[in-house]
Amino acid sequence: MEGGLDARSILITGSSSGIGRATAERFAARGWRVFASLRRPDAGASLRGLAASRGWRLTTPQLDVTDDESVATAVGEILRETDGRLDVLVNNAGYYAYGPLEETSSDELGAQLDTNVVGVHRVTRAVLPAMRARRGGTVVTIGSLSGRVALPMVGPYHASKWALEGMIEAWRLELYPFGVRVALIEPGPFETALYTNERPAAAADRPESPYAPLLASYRREAARLGRSDDLTPLLDVIERAATAANPRLRWPVGRTSFSAGRLRPFVPDRLYEWIMRMAFRMRRPLPPDPPRTDPSLRL
Ligand SMILES: NC(=O)c1ccc[n+]([C@@H]2O[C@H](COP(=O)([O-])OP(=O)(O)OC[C@H]3O[C@@H](n4cnc5c(N)ncnc54)[C@H](OP(=O)(O)O)[C@@H]3O)[C@@H](O)[C@H]2O)c1
Repeated sequence: MEGGLDARSILITGSSSGIGRATAERFAARGWRVFASLRRPDAGASLRGLAASRGWRLTTPQLDVTDDESVATAVGEILRETDGRLDVLVNNAGYYAYGPLEETSSDELGAQLDTNVVGVHRVTRAVLPAMRARRGGTVVTIGSLSGRVALPMVGPYHASKWALEGMIEAWRLELYPFGVRVALIEPGPFETALYTNERPAAAADRPESPYAPLLASYRREAARLGRSDDLTPLLDVIERAATAANPRLRWPVGRTSFSAGRLRPFVPDRLYEWIMRMAFRMRRPLPPDPPRTDPSLRL
């Protein structure tokens, strides 16, 4: 077993891949008791195998952040196993929905918010009574630099990550008197399954979509975007936020963390919009659509 045994415990949502899985491995290797929760238990086979081979104290409870019952069952079981002492929750589960907002259905937007925002709310609410009761614990949420800047075509994902900015800031203030620490991680782009599993709005790819040129510009820019494939700096930040006695609220990390996390608040909106219009080749407003000809009215 790497590291010594550590009495502390951590629950991570969305541990099947990417940041969630890497976080589970990081804390397990440090000797923590890790609840690496998954919405699909079969997706945890290789993590369970690794844990067994390294002697880690790691289990993979089923937890779907969009399902009240699944959250209540998983958290109830974890609190029983830890005698009510869960030290850290990492709200990590999420996915990337994109597309023109007009072409995004209410259901598609609702599903994005249900996972990325209400999912965080559900799981955090479930662990808080135990954390408040013992006046301790840390809630770390994986937000995004997409919660600090906005690009066209990424409205659904931005809506979720901007919502987290406000929700987590308010929650941190509410939990201060109870000794529960709250931190928001704001990663720039890292190479994970987030992008292979991204969900474009179903209507976005209609060839007749008025947004087709803008969507093509977005995809071209997204393909050129450099993503870091080394998660180490991000894991270091998550670990620091999770273990600090008095963590700060926001933790920007990764590429664009300077331009998006630190610089953006000082860039006037007009200048930012001009830069976006240049990047996405929106030089000037389009002429009005030609008048519609209704064939039934033809003589
Ligand atoms: N990668 C980046 O560049 C980046 C940047 C900023 C923020 N983030 C944030 O980091 C977090 C993790 O993303 P990632 O990059 O590691 O991508 P990822 O590899 O796709 O991981 C996403 C995880 O969330 C899980 N998940 C999705 N819906 C769920 C649900 N309803 N219940 C439980 N789990 C669910 C997925 O499980 P399944 O395997 O079952 O789908 C998967 O384990 C996300 O919140 C993302 O927004 C990522």
